[in-house]
Amino acid sequence: MTFDEVAKERRSVRAYKADEKVSKEMVEELIKAAQLAPTWKNSQTGRYYVVMSEEKLTKVKQECLPEFNRNNCADAPVLIVTTFVKNRAGFNREGVADNELGNMWGAYDLGLQNENLLLKAKDLGLDTLVMGIRDGEKLREVLNIPAEQEVVAVISVGYRNQNPDMPKRKALEDISVFC
Ligand SMILES: Cc1cc2nc3c(=O)[nH]c(=O)nc-3n(C[C@H](O)[C@H](O)[C@H](O)COP(=O)(O)O)c2cc1C
Repeated sequence: MTFDEVAKERRSVRAYKADEKVSKEMVEELIKAAQLAPTWKNSQTGRYYVVMSEEKLTKVKQECLPEFNRNNCADAPVLIVTTFVKNRAGFNREGVADNELGNMWGAYDLGLQNENLLLKAKDLGLDTLVMGIRDGEKLREVLNIPAEQEVVAVISVGYRNQNPDMPKRKALEDISVFC
């Protein structure tokens, strides 16, 4: 697939094939793609908790997601919970924020990495859904995520069982200013 095809064909997919599993090797490919993204002073603060066992998948879906997102990823064979180490990206060696955005740079870097992951998934024939509506503290407890990491998104990965249309995008002139 060309870059344009991957970028255009990636969709948020909310129904997956229950009988088509994703291998650990494929998930590793996704995380390797995430690692290629640029990060603040190369700080690489993104972290990936890969949930693939039946037991943990059920626990995360049941206990850490609201009903609508639980349904969205009901048959997804993989969930990747993404976090970032706080107070590094956007901060100097003394731990002082370099500018007013502070830890937003950690979230920014994780977003760059996560987009690489989503596009690599598409390139491998997989589909994904980023879920920002989740119970962060419950995820921390279930997956043993340390306090120094901020819990961000849950990303479902699997083979699609629906073909959603692309939600409408805003007009270029409404979002860009050529100065
Ligand atoms: C940070 C973020 C959080 C999101 N959270 C959710 C969510 O909790 N549940 C959901 O169904 N979709 C969620 N989405 C998916 C968006 O609704 C979707 O990306 C948007 O409608 C555009 O559709 P597309 O991804 O198919 O292009 C989220 C997307 C992003 C980037």
